[in-house]
Amino acid sequence: MVHSAVVWDSRLALETTKDWNGIEQIVLRNSKGGSVRVSLHGGQVISWRNERGEELLFTSSKGILKHPKAMRGGIPICFPQFGNCDSLEQHGFARNKIWAIDDDPPPLPSTDSNGKSFVDLLLKPSEEDLKFWPHSFEFRLRVSLGMDGNLTLISRVRNVNWKPFSFSFAYHSYLSVSDISEVRIEGLETMDYFDNLCKRERFTEQGDAITFESEIDRIYLSSPNCIAVLDHERKRTFVLRKEGLPDVVVWNPWDKKSKAMSDFGDDEYNQMVCVDGAAIEKPVALKPGEEWTGRLEIAVVPSSFCSEDL
Ligand code: BG6
Repeated sequence: MVHSAVVWDSRLALETTKDWNGIEQIVLRNSKGGSVRVSLHGGQVISWRNERGEELLFTSSKGILKHPKAMRGGIPICFPQFGNCDSLEQHGFARNKIWAIDDDPPPLPSTDSNGKSFVDLLLKPSEEDLKFWPHSFEFRLRVSLGMDGNLTLISRVRNVNWKPFSFSFAYHSYLSVSDISEVRIEGLETMDYFDNLCKRERFTEQGDAITFESEIDRIYLSSPNCIAVLDHERKRTFVLRKEGLPDVVVWNPWDKKSKAMSDFGDDEYNQMVCVDGAAIEKPVALKPGEEWTGRLEIAVVPSSFCSEDL
């Protein structure tokens, strides 16, 4: 009997391409057929596919891929602020900048000892950025795709300034769902939240899982590190595990706001929900030389797996 074995060639773990603006994109692959596409525009993950080639992140059909605006969808990085509290642009400038591949060390994108394919990106402030936010930093982002198909983002922000600074942060994760009315979020019951629709007034969530019947724009405070987003129709659950990210943003614009956004389809609110690992209520404070790490891992599991096994 002849046994044939398919040997995974780790050189296939990455590919670089360019978008139609000439901005580099990195595609990570695992041996089972899963893939992740990351753009140097914003260090933004713009696609994450499972082994069957199904897209797991939402991107708008009206999304504009044009520098300097972040594309609507995927996982934009909100830094050094979430929201529009001070003179900085909404959700900070990091999502609108061109990042570099960080090859000093480790080497160029490859696989780590666990077989994860990954890429390391780097953002440093430009002279222009320093005019609006006068703090020198190095922001290192590792995006990796596991053998199990899990997507992991690890952000490390280092203060290379001579004075302290603080910032807020979010992985603004647009998850693709079948139909928003079929979605339930577990893990945020009884949590306090700021309601962005009521001038960030503080409320307490009741005991039930979150479901959607109208616009929701909330920041859940000091939440557990594991959150589940259940999609009943697709019978699958996104499991978000986070570290260094105490807060969770939940956002769905619903019909009226969708119509007001030029880069978002009128009915697309049905197919997405943003659930962000974030650090917002208590900004991260770094003294000179200090570094902060914020980690988010997203897995997709059959819904039957979830409630008992989380
Ligand atoms: C959410 C905010 O996270 O992002 C909303 O809570 C905001 O208030 C939304 O509208 C989208 O922001 P933007 O800047 O990408 O249009």
